[in-house]
Amino acid sequence: MLPNGAAGALSQWLRLSGEKMKLKGKVGLVTGTSPNIGGGIAETLAAEGASVVCVDSRAENAADCARYINSTNARAIAVTCDVTDENQVAAAVIAAREAFGGIDVLVNSAAFFNKKGVIDMTLEEWRRQLAVILTGTFLFTKSVAKLMIEQQRKGSIINIISTAGHQGEPDNIAYCTGKGGLLNFTRSAAMELVRHGIRVNSLTPTATDPAESLERAARWGRTISVDANQLKRLFEPFRTRVPMQKLPSPSDYGRAAVFLASEDAGMITGTDLRVDAGAIAQYWAWDPGAK
Ligand SMILES: NC(=O)c1ccc[n+]([C@@H]2O[C@H](COP(=O)([O-])OP(=O)(O)OC[C@H]3O[C@@H](n4cnc5c(N)ncnc54)[C@H](O)[C@@H]3O)[C@@H](O)[C@H]2O)c1
Repeated sequence: MLPNGAAGALSQWLRLSGEKMKLKGKVGLVTGTSPNIGGGIAETLAAEGASVVCVDSRAENAADCARYINSTNARAIAVTCDVTDENQVAAAVIAAREAFGGIDVLVNSAAFFNKKGVIDMTLEEWRRQLAVILTGTFLFTKSVAKLMIEQQRKGSIINIISTAGHQGEPDNIAYCTGKGGLLNFTRSAAMELVRHGIRVNSLTPTATDPAESLERAARWGRTISVDANQLKRLFEPFRTRVPMQKLPSPSDYGRAAVFLASEDAGMITGTDLRVDAGAIAQYWAWDPGAK
């Protein structure tokens, strides 16, 4: 038997530690769960108490993410699904419902990079990249929102943008267009779904420190060989041009997604949360790395 004071302190601590799990009892579905950003967000939702549905068109990216989460105190399932296929999206949402009863948080993160300009990009490449970025987000938002409405769950939907969705990057036409489109998709869906208590926001990452995703890939059992010098050469120009002089990690985005998904953001809808080390706010002529 603990003395009264200690018992009180213990129960207070237990209450507080329970409260610290911001998504306890919630279910999150994340698309595009590679070891980089989507996997990082999925793991962070799980660490805050959510059960997670890991969705990816590459079976191993869904499976490895779910397997890792299941090795912690949280639960997850893997669903192989192409976000552009309406039947596969419907099947993923049914799988989530069967496994965990429903969905409270949707993170639309699936995308791919294909840096081509308006002159060089083929119509087929343009269609495919926009299909994954825009149509995939449309299909998952539609299917998950319908389930949230049916179950009267006041859920949260988070669309992953990019600083390239706010600015005109040359030779990246479909990606910039799709991500810019998602910013206003977010506002429009937020206005439509507000009457159901569903909040829709976006989250803007930027060039991302590769260290954490390399560590995650290794933790998921992947063999990776990296040339540290080449990696540094690739990321150093981004790091020195960003106001904070360091690049965010996937878990930085994960914590921001947890915030947007949680009651802490209960009065926030239709907005974009930039986790970009100051990149978009930066005055264009200022070089933060200049001595
Ligand atoms: N990496 C960055 O520096 C960066 C910067 C800004 C924004 N973002 C955004 O963050 C998100 C994640 O990026 P990332 O770097 O982790 O990319 P990534 O390539 O590591 O992961 C994207 C995942 O999406 C999956 N995917 C692609 N097409 C799909 C489809 N049709 N259906 C289902 N899954 C599909 C891929 O298999 C992959 O697992 C993307 O939306 C990206 O635009 C990334």
